[in-house]
Amino acid sequence: MGTRRIVKYSAIASAVALGLSVVATTTVAAEHGPVAKIDVNNAKAEIGKRLFFDRRLSGDAGISCSDCHSPDHGFGSKEALSPGYPGNGHFRNAPSLVNTAHKKTWMHDGRLGTNLNDVTREMLTEDYIMNMDMRLMQERVKQDSEYLALYKAAGMNEPSNGSIRKLLPIFMKTLTTRNAPVDNGTMSDSAKRGGAIFDGKGGCNQCHTGALYSDGGRHNTGVPENLDIFLDPMNHQAYLAYGIGMGVENIFNTKRDIGAAVQTHEADGSDRGTFMTPQLRGLKYSAPYMHNGMMATLENVVDFYNQGGGADSNKSNLLQPLRLTSSEKSDLVAYLEALSGDALTGDEFVWSKSFPAEYEVIPNWRQVDNRTRAPIKSTH
Ligand code: HEC
Ligand code: HEC
Repeated sequence: MGTRRIVKYSAIASAVALGLSVVATTTVAAEHGPVAKIDVNNAKAEIGKRLFFDRRLSGDAGISCSDCHSPDHGFGSKEALSPGYPGNGHFRNAPSLVNTAHKKTWMHDGRLGTNLNDVTREMLTEDYIMNMDMRLMQERVKQDSEYLALYKAAGMNEPSNGSIRKLLPIFMKTLTTRNAPVDNGTMSDSAKRGGAIFDGKGGCNQCHTGALYSDGGRHNTGVPENLDIFLDPMNHQAYLAYGIGMGVENIFNTKRDIGAAVQTHEADGSDRGTFMTPQLRGLKYSAPYMHNGMMATLENVVDFYNQGGGADSNKSNLLQPLRLTSSEKSDLVAYLEALSGDALTGDEFVWSKSFPAEYEVIPNWRQVDNRTRAPIKSTH
């Protein structure tokens, strides 16, 4: 069980730097899995699940969270660049939401670092995502008798936009990795060899650490730009809206996603093109990869690292050519696949019942409480 690996990597590097000969005695432990399950109130998670699949949470009732974060693709999108609100595209890949509740910083550029309720609000209200007005959302949910029944079953008061923003994260907390071969001792021999490369000469664990395989930091790996951002006006308008909103200088002439520099603002520009180290827990389901979906397969990703990453003047010097043999490359791919657990596609994670096509008409709506249908007591 588990994969406690002892890594001599950085110890060797510092010992060499100090001219020491006691290399093998100092070791750094890189503990990876497993991912902790998060306990939630099931009745509340059930409401969050229905909300996640409900298109009425977007302005024109045309798009739901699950249209971009699809359970069939590890709660991410199979498109390199995410779809957008109808009439828009997007300029980044929609990330997998598996284990997102364990993160402390969200989005590829790490621009949101408070909590999942804030991320949810951004998704709901951003023009090119769901373009929703919170007051309208609250009314729509209040007027659906199934939500009222679910809220009642969960012991909650009437739906409000605040509770909607709390319930969606409760559902997301249920999306944790379970039964991954790396955690349950069922890894193939090839995957085991790949694990030794990951934590050894591959140097992957310099950035991909812990149960989620992410140091929560920002690095420039030199991923090539996805030119569809600039060639497709639908994507470009979302990119411009984002760039203008974030105050990116000279956005009309910027043809490279500046990534986490929107957060860090280094005067010398050395932070341009850095992105958050993603977690690696659902790779089996979440292709394509990288912030802009530029890598279609894990073989592509491993080839990319084997050549020392991409071409970028700010590229991290932690990336160097690896000179892996073809069998070592396939071992590394086997290991990356072994980090994913069961597909989260069962009823626990997917709302498969339909939604009402129309709201129920309440003929005497002025005389009754619309939720309980009890006559309203006259106040005059
Ligand atoms: C139109 C497509 C789209 C829709 C609809 C959408 N998202 Fe997203 N989501 C994205 C994209 C793209 C990103 C990454 C954006 C970035 O990095 O700039 C993202 C990022 C996220 C993240 C951060 C993940 C991480 O690990 O950093 C969370 C959480 C999230 N979305 C939840 C939701 C929820 C909840 C809903 C519904 C209320 C939703 N999304 C609706 C496209 C979408
Ligand atoms: C310098 C830090 C660093 C090192 C070392 C590193 N990575 Fe990464 N990795 C990143 C960052 C940052 C990204 C995201 C880049 C982006 O989106 O543009 C990433 C992305 C990935 C992805 C794509 C994940 C996804 O969901 O899109 C995979 C897979 C991956 N790395 C595997 C590896 C492997 C295997 C190694 C070792 C050969 C490795 N990484 C070494 C920082 C690093």
